[in-house]
This record gives sequence, C-alpha cells and structure tokens, in this order.
Amino acid sequence: MNMNAQHALLDPVETYSIDALRQHQLERMRWSLKHAYQNVPLYRQRFDELGVHPDDLKTLDDLAKFPFTGKSDLRDNYPFGMFAVPQSEIVRVHASSGTTGKPTVVGYTQNDIDTWANVVARSIRAAGGRRGDKVHISYGYGLFTGGLGAHYGAERLGCTVIPMSGGQTEKQVQLIRDFQPDIIMVTPSYMLNLADEIERQGLDPHKLALRLGIFGAEPWTDELRRSIEQRLGITALDIYGLSEIMGPGVAMECAETKDGPTIWEDHFYPEIIDPVTGQVLPDGQLGELVFTSLSKEALPMIRYRTRDLTRLLPGTARPMRRMDKITGRSDDMLIIRGVNVFPTQVEEQVLKIKQLSEFYEMHLYRNGNLDSVDVLVELRHELDGMDEAQQKLIGTELAKQIKTHIGISTRVLIKPFNSLKRSEGKACHVIDKRSA
Ligand code: DLL
Repeated sequence: MNMNAQHALLDPVETYSIDALRQHQLERMRWSLKHAYQNVPLYRQRFDELGVHPDDLKTLDDLAKFPFTGKSDLRDNYPFGMFAVPQSEIVRVHASSGTTGKPTVVGYTQNDIDTWANVVARSIRAAGGRRGDKVHISYGYGLFTGGLGAHYGAERLGCTVIPMSGGQTEKQVQLIRDFQPDIIMVTPSYMLNLADEIERQGLDPHKLALRLGIFGAEPWTDELRRSIEQRLGITALDIYGLSEIMGPGVAMECAETKDGPTIWEDHFYPEIIDPVTGQVLPDGQLGELVFTSLSKEALPMIRYRTRDLTRLLPGTARPMRRMDKITGRSDDMLIIRGVNVFPTQVEEQVLKIKQLSEFYEMHLYRNGNLDSVDVLVELRHELDGMDEAQQKLIGTELAKQIKTHIGISTRVLIKPFNSLKRSEGKACHVIDKRSA
C-alpha cells in the first residue's frame, strides 16, 4: 500500500505534527485534571494538600507538580470510591484480581467504552489488521479487560470476531483449524500452549490462515517473538495496556516499524519517573511508567504509577512516542543474593539455546541465609529422550550463560517436554519458596 492510501486509514491524530499533538494533549489534560478535582474527593484532597490547582497547568511539564496515584488508592476506595460520575453513568466495570486482598475495580461510561473500542481498533489496524479479517480472541472474557477490550475493538474495525476466551485448548485449535482466522489475540504464553496443541493435533502451523498475532498482558522478550514467528509463520506484535488506565490498547506496536509499542498519547499521557525519588526522568532513561488519562470520564487517572519499568522512545511510525519492551514490573523484580533479576532476563537466555522449549520456571529457595535458584526448562519436543550426558551439557551451558549475562548462580534442571505448567492466560514463571 502506498503512503497516501496508508494515511487515509489512520485516525487524523495519528498524522498530527508534534506541536499539534502537544497542544491537543494540553487541552485534554486541563480538562482531565479539572474533572478529577471536581468529582473525586481523593484528588481534591491530594491536590489541596499539595497546594496545586488544575489551573496551575500552563504547560505539559507542569503535570510534575501534581500528586501520584497508585494501586493502593483504588484498593482503599474499593469498590467505586474513585469514580467521577454518578453510578447511573457507569455502563461497565472490570476488575483485576491481584495476588492478595481486594480486587482493583475500574469503571467506564459509554464514551469511555467507545474510546476504548477506538484505540483497540486503531491498535489492530496499526498491527496490519483490516476490516473483514477474522480475529480469534483467546484473552479471557469476564472481569479481565483482555477479552472484551479486544472484542469491542476488533468489531469496531469491522473484523469478524471469534470470541473464544481462554481455556479449552483443544477446542481452540479445532476452531483455528476450521474457522481459519487471520489474526489471533492472546497472551504470548498461551500462544505457546496453543502452538504445542496445533502440533499435537498434527497440523502444520505454517499452513493455517493465521498471519498476525497481537500479544500482550505480560512481559515477553524479542527472543520469544522470534521463536513464535518462526514456529507459526506469523508476525508477532506487542500490545500493552492495564485496567486502571483502560485495558489493552494503551499502546501498540506498529507493523511497519516493529520497534516497541506506540503509546496512544492523545488519550494516555506517559511520563517516566525514578521509582525511588519520584523525579520525572528525560525520555530515553529507564524508570517507572506513569500515565495520566486525558479523556476518561468514569475513572480519571492522574499520574498513575504502573510499576512497569521501561523507557520512552521517540515516535517512528507515528508522531506519538513509543515505549521500550517492558523489562518487568517492579513487583516482579527478584532480588537474588543482592542481584536484581527479572524473569524476562532468564527467558532471553533460555531461548538462545536451540534445544530448549520456550517454557521455563524459576524456583527460589532459602538455604540458611542464602538464596538459591533452580531454573526448570524443557527440551524441545523432538529431542525428548536425549541421553543424560547431553542434557547435562545443555544445563551447564544455560547456567553459564545466566551467570555471565545476569550474574547469578543457578541450578538448571532439564525436564521432559510438557512437564512444566502451561498457562491459559498470564504465565507465572516464578515460584518463590523463600518465605516458606
Ligand atoms: O493485562 C490488559 C491487557 C490485556 C493488555 C490484553 C494487553 C493485552 P491488567 O490485567 O490490568 O491489564 O494488567 C496490566 O500487565 O501493568 C503490565 O505489567 C502487564 N502488561 C500488559 N501488557 C503488557 C505488555 C492487562 N505488552 C499489567 N508487555 C501491566 C509487558 C504487559 N507487560
């Protein structure tokens, strides 16, 4: 498609000049701060305590004067205490379970649902999806934002939606075979599970109609992207989002550049801060991602601390900035004998060894005062039955790579194919038995 035809498909804001985009954001940010201040007691109290008023926002940089919001604020105001509109205006709620305690509840007005459908439609289009494509959705439907978020966006773009949700792996593959979807939207870890099932059913993944996977909801590496692309013969792109800010579709990697998700900055204003001091860091520096919603009615979020660690990068396919692939959440960072480790770093090393499958687990123990780590990996299907001496060599090689690149000593345990737990949604790579 030539450049003009390509542009004709885009939302006007996707072709704004940077100046026009910043002006648009400033206007929306003023509205959002005012809306939050006037309608949510928590924001009014926090702004007043700090002595800031929405009128103090003269430039986008003035946002730094305003207080942060965190997950605990939503929990403390459970379930609906941070909603900025009367309950009669709320047409949907979602919730994320979290590991402990109360769920985080989010709400949407009809306009919010429309905005969300639009940004997800924009995301699928940016990934190369078009009207008429069949989209198989395996993100979970229900309180999780993945399924319904993807669903409404795909419909908005004019796609044919197959609302499969998560689970029923065998049936998923049957439908992928029979309905021949062009696009699949699923967590990368469940895609691996589906890929195994495709092979188990004797299908050649390269002969399926699938051409594009829109993967997100959990951290995943470029190594995993390559592995999925090769196994399935598809393009694999990264979609990012979080319920507190909207759901999937806060940012999407564009097909033409494939260089990290473009943040849909006309609705979600990003900042990167130093997670310890809270100082705003310049673009390009690694820190914690913070979002301010610019158009959301039901649940305006002012400087929401995502705990996701990444960098802001200049726009390429669009004027909006991109985010680097997320290394992990600060909550997922493991401190092992004083070294900070993210599971994605281990994933990178596992996938560099071609005899190993993409599945891995880290088991953490405490022996006396010392942490110890077992890394459990699987041989690729076709190598099952490999002799022990060879397996040992592979284990030694992986332990060496982990030591060199990450700086921790590990014991690698090689398991037969299909012995590690498969995920049907977000994967859990870490079993921490240190406090037991
Ligand atoms: O996971 C929304 C979503 C659904 C995004 C489907 C993409 C696709 P939550 O359950 O609230 O919402 O979890 C949000 O998941 O703060 C990140 O830590 C992580 N996450 C989401 N997308 C990505 C991604 C959905 N592409 C949390 N890469 C976020 C890395 C991601 N982490």
